[in-house]
Amino acid sequence: MSRRILVTAALPYANGSIHLGHLLEYIQSDIWARFQRLRGRECFYVCADDAHGTPIMLRARAEGSTPEALIERMQAEHQRDFTAFHIGFDHYHSTHSPENRELAEYIYSQLQAGGHIARRSITQAYDARAGMFLPDRFIRGTCPRCGAPQQYGDTCEICGATYSPAELKDAISVVSGAPPEKRNSEHDFFKLGDFTAWLHQWTRGRDPGAIQPHVDPAVANKLEEWFTAGLKDWDISRDAPYFGFAIPGAPGKYFYVWLDAPIGYMASFRHFCKLHPEIDFDAFWQADRATAEQTELYHFIGKDITYFHTLFWPAMLHGAGLRTPTAVFVHGFVTVNGRKMSKSRGTFINAHTWIEHLDPEYLRYYYAAKLGAGIEDIDLNFDDFIQRINADLVGKYVNIASRTARLLNRHCGGRLADPSRASMAVPQDPARRSALAAIVSAMAELIAQAYESRQYSLAVRQIMKLADLVNRFIDQYKPWELAQAARYDALQEACSAALDAFRVLTIYLKPILPALTAKAERFLHLEPLSWADLATPLAPGHRIRPYEHLMTRVNPASVKAILAASEESLQSQSMKKESPMNPIAPEITIDDFSRIDLRVARVVRAEQVEGADKLLRLEVDLGDQTRQVFAGIKAAYEPGELAGKLVVVVANLAPRKMRFGISAGMVLAAGPGGQEVFLVSPDSGATPGMKVK
Ligand code: MSP
Ligand code: ZN
Repeated sequence: MSRRILVTAALPYANGSIHLGHLLEYIQSDIWARFQRLRGRECFYVCADDAHGTPIMLRARAEGSTPEALIERMQAEHQRDFTAFHIGFDHYHSTHSPENRELAEYIYSQLQAGGHIARRSITQAYDARAGMFLPDRFIRGTCPRCGAPQQYGDTCEICGATYSPAELKDAISVVSGAPPEKRNSEHDFFKLGDFTAWLHQWTRGRDPGAIQPHVDPAVANKLEEWFTAGLKDWDISRDAPYFGFAIPGAPGKYFYVWLDAPIGYMASFRHFCKLHPEIDFDAFWQADRATAEQTELYHFIGKDITYFHTLFWPAMLHGAGLRTPTAVFVHGFVTVNGRKMSKSRGTFINAHTWIEHLDPEYLRYYYAAKLGAGIEDIDLNFDDFIQRINADLVGKYVNIASRTARLLNRHCGGRLADPSRASMAVPQDPARRSALAAIVSAMAELIAQAYESRQYSLAVRQIMKLADLVNRFIDQYKPWELAQAARYDALQEACSAALDAFRVLTIYLKPILPALTAKAERFLHLEPLSWADLATPLAPGHRIRPYEHLMTRVNPASVKAILAASEESLQSQSMKKESPMNPIAPEITIDDFSRIDLRVARVVRAEQVEGADKLLRLEVDLGDQTRQVFAGIKAAYEPGELAGKLVVVVANLAPRKMRFGISAGMVLAAGPGGQEVFLVSPDSGATPGMKVK
């Protein structure tokens, strides 16, 4: 019987845009799901927005909107980006959905009935001004270890210390600026410790007949630390106000976002099953049916959320009498040019920025070429990226088609040769031509194994080796010379053999490059190919369509433009930095303020910056000197209206090297950015160089 598989990718938070880090996971899981379908398996691939939690609630409030409106907008944005990257979810849902509420309530009640929920009172930070309990991230203060100001309630970004918010000095609430108080509140805890023995076995085991363990041994080894430390009760409730699901029978209490987030996998699939009544939800989620029918469940996740997926989630499912995952596949993090993605280096790149400049399939191919099954980080190195796309994808695979299809169309009416006449046409080496097809197809199982075990880099390497082989075959027969010599039969032979090998390579590449291979299928004049079609060569006399251009080389200027655009969005973000909330910053002294040297300046010149969407270059006169400053005000001001204008400049801000040059200082402006930017301008009478106090 054919395998029945349900695949999930982690649910992106609804309060952020999809970026290249996220995309590693969605591309990895999409390739796997496409591969399974290509092999003829029943494979469903679902995801959803992770819509609940305090940050969403506060951001909506700050925008004068509702969480519902905010998550709707973000979901549309996320889905737009996923579609552009060809992420072929069967269904994309939201954790803020009736299905998820129902399932969360069900699992909670099952856990409660099993005695796995404890209720007890705990003490927490409370913001009396805002009337809410504060998550650690919403408390800031001075690090108890190194004294760095403005650190989060749980970790210090300067010295790396971790602590409890109570240890933080001069703590204030980020929401209102008030110092937090301590208050008691009753919370529900999931007794994870009840499952210690079961989990320990589970993380080291595998399902009967499964080809891989539940958790990769390298990941299981890391989990040992948690087992050694002892699995602690997990706080699964939050107090109102909270954007989430109310806990039945506990007025004013809500499920913590991480309780209902993984349940969102089920909810998304549940909704999908409602739309497709022939698909049986229970066969995938009821423990006994899943065992009997051997349905498979796989979660793709990043390493940062391992704990939730390999401990909490299986324990919740097991405790509620549901099926547990067949395997949890953990991947590493994306770095760009060898370093963590960074806004100031322009390497924190949003999916949408990529789409505006580069083909999404370039990224799919590059990630595939780098991805193994492990948790190592994946580096997106742009020099290597350009090289791989241009040399491999365009130079090898696409090249086969462009070298042969046009000749076949021009000289043979696009018709493939009849192999029964092969030895007549290419008498030099008849065996070699059929050997080509044999060799190219012989790698099928190896490549399938590489996909199945998520060693995509291995698959890509094999496929490109075969593409080399086919190109050498073309080099040897030189169909363009055959054309000149009017040896059209021989030309037809050679091009037909190469194109049939190209067809095989197209099948191999389908999971990675759905759009490119669809174009290839179109010009080959074939219905969408599946893995089983490997064995069916192009028919004698088959007629291909006119060759359409498949893919162009990466233009290095587009890479530069992406980096520049990503750096700029930091510029405009520096104004939005306070979001999602806009509270008054913590109190400072007059001494603190006097460290900032604000000066009146006059704009001498303002001009467009080539290649920049948001920046203008300003030259400002500070009385005794002129400085160059880049300002993210292009959408709001015409350069012509700025010359002569008085502005206020932060004169002692450390100069920053930007893609377009050095920015020496900053011009003060108000507003959220874009067209809504308002320069701060002194009254006439002020003169350049005056101190602003
Ligand atoms: N909402 C949670 C997941 C809930 S799943 C029940 C979450 N969201 S996230 O938006 O922060 O991340 C979504 C996925 O993207 C996670 O698997 C995360 O590991 C992955 N990545 C986020 N940034 C990443 C990189 N820079 N590199 C690779 N993957 C990254 O966590
Ligand atoms: Zn510190």
